[in-house]
Amino acid sequence: MPDSMQNILDRVAAVRNEFDKQIQHVSSPQEVEELRIAFMSRKGKVLALFPLIGSVAADEKPRIGAELNALKENIQNTLDTLKQQLDDDHRHDTFFDFTLPGKKPPRGGLHPLLQVMDEIKTIFIGMGFRVEEGMEIETDYYNFEALNIPPHHPSRDMHDTFYLGGEYLLRTHTSPVQIHTMENQQPPIRMIAPGRCFRKDTPDATHSPMFHQVEGLVVDRGVSFADLKGIVQAFAQKMLGEGVRVRFRPSFFPFTEPSAEYDFSCIFCRGKGCRVCKQTGWLEISGAGMVDPAVFGFVNIDPEIYSGYAFGMGVERIAMLLLGVHDIRIFYDNDVRFLEQF
Ligand code: PHE
Repeated sequence: MPDSMQNILDRVAAVRNEFDKQIQHVSSPQEVEELRIAFMSRKGKVLALFPLIGSVAADEKPRIGAELNALKENIQNTLDTLKQQLDDDHRHDTFFDFTLPGKKPPRGGLHPLLQVMDEIKTIFIGMGFRVEEGMEIETDYYNFEALNIPPHHPSRDMHDTFYLGGEYLLRTHTSPVQIHTMENQQPPIRMIAPGRCFRKDTPDATHSPMFHQVEGLVVDRGVSFADLKGIVQAFAQKMLGEGVRVRFRPSFFPFTEPSAEYDFSCIFCRGKGCRVCKQTGWLEISGAGMVDPAVFGFVNIDPEIYSGYAFGMGVERIAMLLLGVHDIRIFYDNDVRFLEQF
């Protein structure tokens, strides 16, 4: 005896109503799963309706089949959508704790040598100096000859450099910038030139084949050694503190006459003598002197009218003192644990 069509349609509607009612109360992925089992599993309420197809007249089977398939698809879609939504909410609940402190993105910073160099620049700019850019690749003429260092001069020994072929080499000091500046500018000149230098040195705690210098040059009428001492003294006090004293010792450079080496009183023991200053009370900084008239000859500045002074400065040496670094090589290792301390 075939079931009546209406009877079956009522039962489909009843399952649909029941599902619609129950889904109102679902609030977790587990409850979605329970509902899915109740309606969609092999023994669930939806599949339980399918055998009814067999109990209707043949010409009614397609209609009932379509109804049942629509019901099944509809319930499946509703469950899928709700599951997705609840899973998302749930994931946020578990993984996102708004009370946790934020994760700091790693932050870059200036290399400690650049920081020290910037400080040196700032002090000299404050005293009326311009900053000149030099070149790391130089010619023999600018690195040596125009600085009054002829070929075979013994002072070239200290400057054994990297020759690049032809007349080119890596500069061994920032002094060639003196020549470029005097070629391009008329006095008064008041400049510093910070930058990299290169020497064929074997690396050890105090030597590196690449290092940094800051060159200073002042050319004007009536410039004297006293001006040089005054500027170096003023710089030392601004850089390292009011108590720092400066001393000049006679020395020799082919491009300055007279020449000196200058020291700062030890900032650690205040001149009493300690391990850092090797008990001398003084820290060697670099060389300085009055521009040699022979150098003026190379750049066509009249030494009868103008005089000048020049000084060098080892950036690593000052940075090592200021930052308490005992091995120059650590500046170039690029070890973030070291770099991020500054
Ligand atoms: N260029 C010299 C050096 O590298 C230092 C220096 C600079 C000396 C200026 C005198 C004047 O050793």
